[in-house]
Amino acid sequence: MENEEVFFKWKPEYSVNIKTIDAQHQELVNILNRLFVAVSMREGDKAIAGILDALTSYTQTHFALEERLMREAKYKDLEPHMAEHRKLLEELDRLAKKFMLEEKPIYFEMLGFLKSWLKGHILGVDTKYSAALQEAGFVFDTWEREATAEFAAMSNSKKWWELWKAA
Ligand SMILES: [Fe+2]
Repeated sequence: MENEEVFFKWKPEYSVNIKTIDAQHQELVNILNRLFVAVSMREGDKAIAGILDALTSYTQTHFALEERLMREAKYKDLEPHMAEHRKLLEELDRLAKKFMLEEKPIYFEMLGFLKSWLKGHILGVDTKYSAALQEAGFVFDTWEREATAEFAAMSNSKKWWELWKAA
């Protein structure tokens, strides 16, 4: 997406200062941008369904990893953070079902909702755990190595990558 009209433009201030997590957040932004293009260009149902599926799988995998990090670091606000994750996954599920089962189109409002949720969540909530873990002296290096390998394995098994690239 080289053009000027990128739906969701990544900014350095979104960084949570954990490389693995930043890379995953950026990938979520990429998938969301891909969905925006598919909806704008009225690409077929199959393409849109594939991207929605990729978005859901990627989000699930990413949240699972983030939750593991917070649990291992004994982060005190793990529970409310997990509740936020659950809410978004329910929303995504509702969106995908509407589209696939009820054959309702995806509206730009929904894409706008996903964008503001993601941005608000990264800036408002993810940066908090990151700061707290850093203050508590949690060592990210080993965790990042393990997490990257684990994430690759999880992603392969879900085939989301081929799905959204092909879509
Ligand atoms: Fe999060």
